[in-house]
Amino acid sequence: MFQNRCATVVHMQSQTPTPLRGEISVPGDKSISHRSIMFGAIANGVTRVKNFLQGADCLSTISCFQKLGIEIENDKTSVLIHGKGLHGLQPPAQTLDVGNSGTTIRLLSGILAGQNFTSELRGDASIQKRPMERIITPLQQMGADITSLNENGCAPLHIAGRKLNGTVYHSPVSSAQVKSCVLLAGLYADGQTTVIEPFLSRNHTELMLQGFGAHLSTDGAAATIFPDCDLQAQEIFVPGDISSAAFFIAAGLIVPGSEILLKNVGVNPTRAGILTVAREMGGNITLLNERSVSGEPVADILVKHSSLHGTTIGGDMIPALIDELPVIAVMASVAEGQTVIRDAGELKVKESNRIDTITENLSAMGADITATEDGMVITGKETLHSAVISCHNDHRIAMSFAVAGLTVAGGVSLDAPDCVTISYPSFYTDIDSLRRNSE
Ligand code: S3P
Repeated sequence: MFQNRCATVVHMQSQTPTPLRGEISVPGDKSISHRSIMFGAIANGVTRVKNFLQGADCLSTISCFQKLGIEIENDKTSVLIHGKGLHGLQPPAQTLDVGNSGTTIRLLSGILAGQNFTSELRGDASIQKRPMERIITPLQQMGADITSLNENGCAPLHIAGRKLNGTVYHSPVSSAQVKSCVLLAGLYADGQTTVIEPFLSRNHTELMLQGFGAHLSTDGAAATIFPDCDLQAQEIFVPGDISSAAFFIAAGLIVPGSEILLKNVGVNPTRAGILTVAREMGGNITLLNERSVSGEPVADILVKHSSLHGTTIGGDMIPALIDELPVIAVMASVAEGQTVIRDAGELKVKESNRIDTITENLSAMGADITATEDGMVITGKETLHSAVISCHNDHRIAMSFAVAGLTVAGGVSLDAPDCVTISYPSFYTDIDSLRRNSE
């Protein structure tokens, strides 16, 4: 079984993989949890958030807003944010630490750019290597005073808040973090602000800001915000994170004998690309009980073991599954035939360079994989073999390869198993509970 909180995770099993059976509820959506704190903080009144993701990244967002003078109560069953309105944040006494969280630093920068005080943002070793010019450029176009204090252009960031001008920004990348940063800055601008992406990225900011009463309109891959609209506190129920469910969608499909019901998962089409791809690969996936919760589409997902075949993934599909590509690569490595992933250069600037870290670890397990400039080509094999996995402290790499380990005799050892706490603290417990149902 998995042993959590130790130097390595060793998955021990007999020659035949143990099926995963039964139902689980994956933790709340990371993107939606971050936004609930941020928008709650700049709304008027008390926002209550249920099923908030208690992962390290979202806790970093809470701690930053507490340093900005917002009272936030977190008793683990719900989070109460005592919002002070658009202009209620206080100058922080210390540098704001975003930890490992790209969403925190990029979205918060948009809010801070429009304040009447100065702040500094820093983060861990990974954040100090992730590109920030993608938000610095549009914010400067809006008149913001934001600079990198790092010679590589990354964090730490220094932001001297000031009144901003509205703009039209054509983003060169499809990135919800860039889009959301600019739209949030647009709340503090003197005219309307439009962001146009190459392809539509996840639209949680647009949906939730509208729910808080912002004046925001969308047209395909363009979103426009009108400034100085007062936001009003909301009751939010955060759906389960499809990016966390993805590990169990993959495990259910590739571990023989598995059948898993994933309860209460967000299936917003701008996030649900893994469902399309898994079905294209021959995956037996059924959506049950489809409904809308706090403005987001939600369903229960039933996954049954299936014989998978290769596919091609690229173009406008990429933003809807960018975080799931590591585990999709694992599925492809045991599918019949070739899978080509292209147009996914963004993988290089995630918590690790995921083109490299996927290729390194799948190769160590004996997979047939070639990295390309913007993706990878994988030819599936019947089985992989046991290996030591270099997680590079990347939560999604650790969980993807824990899933790969479920299919091989002897399993895998992860060099940094605890990094899963960034987005899925109960990951190993959930795997154990589904495996126990087969014993
Ligand atoms: C996120 C957007 C995506 C995603 C990240 C969360 C968000 O990043 O990879 O995990 O919450 O907006 P990009 O905007 O860089 O694509």
